Amino acid sequence: MIFPLLLVVTFLCATVDAGGKIAVSKESNKGLKKNLDSAEAAFAIKLGKLLNEELKEKNVVYSPLSIFNALVLILLGLEEGATRDELASFLGFSKNPASLLTSHQYFSRILNSVKHSEGVTVNIAAGLFVSNGISLKEQFLEDVKTYYNSEVTNVAFDSNSGTDFINNWISNKTNGRIPKLYFSSLPANTKLVLSSALYFAANWLNPFSKELIKPDKFNTGFSVVDVKMLTNEKTIPYTDNPSLRFRAIGLDYEKKEFTLYIVLPYEGELLTNVIKNLEPQHIRQIVGATQDNITKIEYKIPYVKYSWNHDLDTQLTTLGIGKLFSSPILTKSASDSLVVSNVKHAADIEFTESGTIASAVTVIGVSRVGLELSVEDPIKFYVDKPFAFFIYHHETNSILFKGWVYNPLE
Ligand SMILES: *[C@@H]1O[C@H](CO)[C@@H](O)[C@H](O)[C@H]1NC(C)=O
Ligand SMILES: *[C@@H]1O[C@H](CO)[C@@H](O)[C@H](O)[C@H]1NC(C)=O
Repeated sequence: MIFPLLLVVTFLCATVDAGGKIAVSKESNKGLKKNLDSAEAAFAIKLGKLLNEELKEKNVVYSPLSIFNALVLILLGLEEGATRDELASFLGFSKNPASLLTSHQYFSRILNSVKHSEGVTVNIAAGLFVSNGISLKEQFLEDVKTYYNSEVTNVAFDSNSGTDFINNWISNKTNGRIPKLYFSSLPANTKLVLSSALYFAANWLNPFSKELIKPDKFNTGFSVVDVKMLTNEKTIPYTDNPSLRFRAIGLDYEKKEFTLYIVLPYEGELLTNVIKNLEPQHIRQIVGATQDNITKIEYKIPYVKYSWNHDLDTQLTTLGIGKLFSSPILTKSASDSLVVSNVKHAADIEFTESGTIASAVTVIGVSRVGLELSVEDPIKFYVDKPFAFFIYHHETNSILFKGWVYNPLE
């Protein structure tokens, strides 16, 4: 059956200005992939720490990949200078004008590789919404189409119709999962909105059978709530990390190109401390350690469905790209002077079983057969208290979604 649907949208609203050309370079850069991977992991982790501190015990979900995608769109329009250098470094792109476009080509290949993964549905869309009467430089418009397949639409921000148009676009690109991002009209001085939308749907490699969905307890730390638990017993990626005081499992999606990693603090350890102590390199460590340690696990995860949205201006400024919010941008990409006024992010996530399981079970069954002969007792991994997670694409090391759950009922 069709499973978790995740949606994410990132926004950058800019208010205007004039077009720069970026030299095309065919030069390849071996360090590019490494830089990009570590930039994304660093961002995912550091943003997590900021949000964890700010929001305390609230459920959170965000998409590092989607946020990067929107920032990369605006990067295409920036002229040479300190703002572009700052954003390029932040994203792990080359600052060197000659190889900046190579970075874009590389990022665009990452998106294509994520989109064309087997056994999952991933839609990634980019859109530029341009105020009537503003002319953006042709090169910028060409580049966003060439690299990111972006749609470019003229809209009127001096009436509701511009805002409605964007809300509908988001709703459409997220299959209705984010039906409305803006609840009031964007200010009339809005000149440009850049957006990136991501939709992800995948079946578990090991689905949960209906009879193993049971009412159970979840301890939020403040109270014990009744939840619907999905239970299973399989031989799966597992790690125990005594120094960081958590254990983690990897739940593969069909075809194993993507995995959901669940990070569960030790008994008596607080999730907030685990998030605080996570460093960017731990993402790869969790992925590597679990892969090397396939273990028989009896696991329970709560049925979860929630959405989250937040403005990210403050966090992005704190994380080092404040120039984007404080200097005029796109001065060579448009006819007026523009500044970024707001970055909004919304995401939602649902972990569920699926009803009409067929082929997914078959695939899983094959990998289970030999291992089921094992008579050892399974390790218990009961996600009955606050946990963190991330959804990871192995080929590109992309983090599609990251978040945590304090209360599945929220
Ligand atoms: C999105 O728009 C396309 C083209 O108009 C349409 O075919 C499709 O059904 C829409 N999808 C959703 C989920 O609204
Ligand atoms: C691997 O799994 C075993 C249980 O099978 C566990 O005791 C051990 O700590 C795990 N190793 C790592 C590195 O996580």
